[in-house]
Amino acid sequence: MIAGMSMLTCIAASAQTPDSAVGDAIAHQGVPPAVPACIACHGAHGEGNAQAGFPRLAGLSAGYLAAQLNDFASGARQQPVMMPIAKGMTPEARANVAAYFASLDAPSSASSTSTQKPDALGEQLALHGNWKSGVPACVSCYGDQGSGVGDAFPALASQPAAYIKTQLAAWKAGTRAPGPLGLMSAVAKRLSDQEADAAATYFASLPAAAHNAQESAKQGVAR
Ligand code: HEC
Repeated sequence: MIAGMSMLTCIAASAQTPDSAVGDAIAHQGVPPAVPACIACHGAHGEGNAQAGFPRLAGLSAGYLAAQLNDFASGARQQPVMMPIAKGMTPEARANVAAYFASLDAPSSASSTSTQKPDALGEQLALHGNWKSGVPACVSCYGDQGSGVGDAFPALASQPAAYIKTQLAAWKAGTRAPGPLGLMSAVAKRLSDQEADAAATYFASLPAAAHNAQESAKQGVAR
């Protein structure tokens, strides 16, 4: 009886705490037959693929990653590649694979295709914004160096420039949920194409912070 009860407690606990070991298996093998291995696109270490514009997942917060997968599954974030992949996983599997990628170290160098040199406009926007058009400094939310803050503001440093640009366009078009307080759709609508390009190139050129994953993700690994 006691053994049975502790077994139940165990099951209840594991339903709540994401299991990054299960997430590891999903990342490498997918969930056959419908869900492909994540690493095929997001890189063997979740570092992303700058050429193809696939974002890095390594070292982002587990809460942020899981929320994105849930948004792809519900259609709040619309993107033809990721929607069926997220829908093919249970909410629990999404949380597990999010915990796995959050537990990985961010890549140590800047996005490898940031061949484009950032210009003064990108740095100006990132650090000071554009007060004439009501665009706040990007770093006021994303942290110094764009290294990410909490579950709501993912790291921008070392994300592929093409990926960042696609996201700004998605917020403008309303195909990506506006996020906390509708901040990003408001900002994206005020950016000119030239400004969006410049800001994306600037953040792609910055090296990722060593590890900014949330405590929650680390707990998933430690178990
Ligand atoms: C065929 C390529 C491909 C595969 C396989 C793939 N992804 Fe993606 N993923 C993408 C692309 C492209 C995007 C960018 C979507 C966008 O522009 O909104 C993306 C975006 C994401 C994001 C959002 C990242 C962010 O910064 O907001 C998450 C989270 C994610 N993928 C997780 C996964 C997981 C987990 C798996 C495996 C179960 C997976 N992906 C498999 C191509 C892929």
